[in-house]
Amino acid sequence: MRSVTVEQARPFSLLCDDIASDKSISHRSAMFALLSDQPSTIKNFLKAEDTLNTLHITKQLGARVKEDERGVLTITPPKTLQEPDDILDCGNSGTAIRLFCGFLSGLEGHFVLTGDKYLRRRPMKRVADPLRSIGAQIDGRNNGDLAPLSIRGKSLQPFNYESKIASAQVKSALILAALKAKGRSTVSEPHKSRDHTERMLRGMGAKLEIEGNKVGVEPMQGPLKPLELTVPTDPSSAFFFAVAAAIVPGAKVTIKDITLNKTRIGAYKVLERMGADIQYIQKEDIYEPMGDITVTYSDGLKGVEVSENISWLIDELPALAIAMAVAQGTSSVRNAEELRVKESDRIATVVAGLQRCGVEVAECEDGYDITGGELKSAVIDSHGDHRIAMSFAVGGLLCGMRIEDTECIDTSFPNFFEILGRVTAVKEA
Ligand code: S3P
Repeated sequence: MRSVTVEQARPFSLLCDDIASDKSISHRSAMFALLSDQPSTIKNFLKAEDTLNTLHITKQLGARVKEDERGVLTITPPKTLQEPDDILDCGNSGTAIRLFCGFLSGLEGHFVLTGDKYLRRRPMKRVADPLRSIGAQIDGRNNGDLAPLSIRGKSLQPFNYESKIASAQVKSALILAALKAKGRSTVSEPHKSRDHTERMLRGMGAKLEIEGNKVGVEPMQGPLKPLELTVPTDPSSAFFFAVAAAIVPGAKVTIKDITLNKTRIGAYKVLERMGADIQYIQKEDIYEPMGDITVTYSDGLKGVEVSENISWLIDELPALAIAMAVAQGTSSVRNAEELRVKESDRIATVVAGLQRCGVEVAECEDGYDITGGELKSAVIDSHGDHRIAMSFAVGGLLCGMRIEDTECIDTSFPNFFEILGRVTAVKEA
């Protein structure tokens, strides 16, 4: 088990163009390349454990992957997708297993999807149940809810599905199944979750009609056009450094080439409401709006309430909790019960971590209340959750912190400590 100590930082200015590439878009690019009959080219694919597992599964399904000297991937799909001769291991990634579940349900063959001990505890019924109702044959432990999942792909019925949760993983799994169904399908959700699947598939020529929170999907009539994509910087990974700039007096961070998709930058808007100075400069718009974000420390933060459009900031809530812990007044997070089924139960792990740092925090079923004050140095257990590890490491910039079990960071942001090391002393202990 690796442990890391982070020392208190002095004022700093950081211009960053090597924050991890977007995880959601990288997963999708490897998977969606299989929907074409031409090679896709992907620049800045995220080379972290989660997305490399997805790329490996793409190869197990018959794709050839080449990387040039600049790191650009060419993914050449097979003529017909191959029934793999081994299990498909999604590692720690909920996105990979749930999207592949929808993708494979409509394909001829037998597929077994599994993952690490954390993923094998996470609920799969949210995708397996609606897929079963349109004819997919999916089984798993605990009455079909837990991986390993066994899928016998077959032709699927068209459907109209109203999801009770705003989840891009559920929506994407169903859109991918709908592409293989025998007629037009629709998927709706209570509010619009991240929409990379819709943007990328439309760019590839799929017929998707989007009306607010509802997506209409026509089945594919033949192979789609290939992807030609530059993956932007991941706003969820970059947010650790946005929080760093918002809490360390005299700090400033500029994050280059980040997606400015509104379904992904909700946490930056909350940090602004708390009083941080944030500038957005859009530079291009291909598949996604993309540009630079600068966060400058501005005379302390104030408490905030967060209860709407939770899916737009769900992954950033642990880092936001660090900002809330040093803000003036009480902050509250509600309607965030989805946090309980992430890489760890993030309501419990955020609350436990903050309590160790001496912060007053009250847990409730769907969130927490945090009374801002002083963060104290502590030893934090990541519980194998990358975002818990990185959030408390950033808290360490104010008071020093020791984080235990940090290997999980490699699932999404392998060079995190290298970048943090540019603004303070970071030691592997
Ligand atoms: C993701 C969707 C979100 C998010 C996850 C990535 C995606 O999960 O938390 O990190 O790429 O579709 P849910 O769809 O379960 O909300």
